[in-house]
Amino acid sequence: MTIPPGVLASDRVAAPPPVPAPSETGTQGRIGLREIRSNERIRSYIEAANQQMFIIGYSEHGLRHAALVAAISRNILLGLGTEARTAELAAMAGYLHDIGNCVHRIYHPQIGATMAFQLLEDMKLDAVEIAQIIGAIGNHEEPEGVPISAITAAVIIADKSDVHFTRVQNPDPTTYDIHDRVNHAVQKSHILINSAECVITLDLVIDTAQASVMEYFEIFVERMIMCRKAAALLGCRFCLIINGVEL
Ligand SMILES: [Fe+2]
Ligand SMILES: [Fe+2]
Repeated sequence: MTIPPGVLASDRVAAPPPVPAPSETGTQGRIGLREIRSNERIRSYIEAANQQMFIIGYSEHGLRHAALVAAISRNILLGLGTEARTAELAAMAGYLHDIGNCVHRIYHPQIGATMAFQLLEDMKLDAVEIAQIIGAIGNHEEPEGVPISAITAAVIIADKSDVHFTRVQNPDPTTYDIHDRVNHAVQKSHILINSAECVITLDLVIDTAQASVMEYFEIFVERMIMCRKAAALLGCRFCLIINGVEL
């Protein structure tokens, strides 16, 4: 299987990507991802969210995940030719999408949207833009979430595709559950955008000695269906490639 050509929207790494310079954000003087990443209150809530995820045995949901989902959400829309401000709003929603985990895992999209509403109001963001961001946050998780907009769709694809060994927080491999094993088995994870053929590809390399492809599907099938619906909203086909084989 030859991986289809396209723009590389993501490259999973352990460290968050650097904060973009103002000239790169497309904000034109308005609040953007740069201001959100610089906000100490937001940083504290995301760190608290990840601490709670660590305690209940979940994979990393901290600043790394937030920054990656932000960058990939933006890159997906820019790769499809969406105008810069919409891509910036997707980046902002991507950064904030899991902030509600600092309250509780259950209903964290809705809790997070409510928290983001207050934080963004305090930052004097325009109400129309706040509505787009909190709508994306509130709809990012399966099974209730629905890709209601391009921003939401980009955040869903960026979030669901962040499967990578660096997300495993459990320090004891002998106590890994299936989520830990599958995450730990994923050695490479890339999103490719082929705007000419309208294809969004998630390309994974899995160490099948650690977890089988079937185990991946056992826990991710619902997420892949959500990605397919999100890609469709963006006018694209969602393509999943695991170890060079299109599924
Ligand atoms: Fe989430
Ligand atoms: Fe997430």
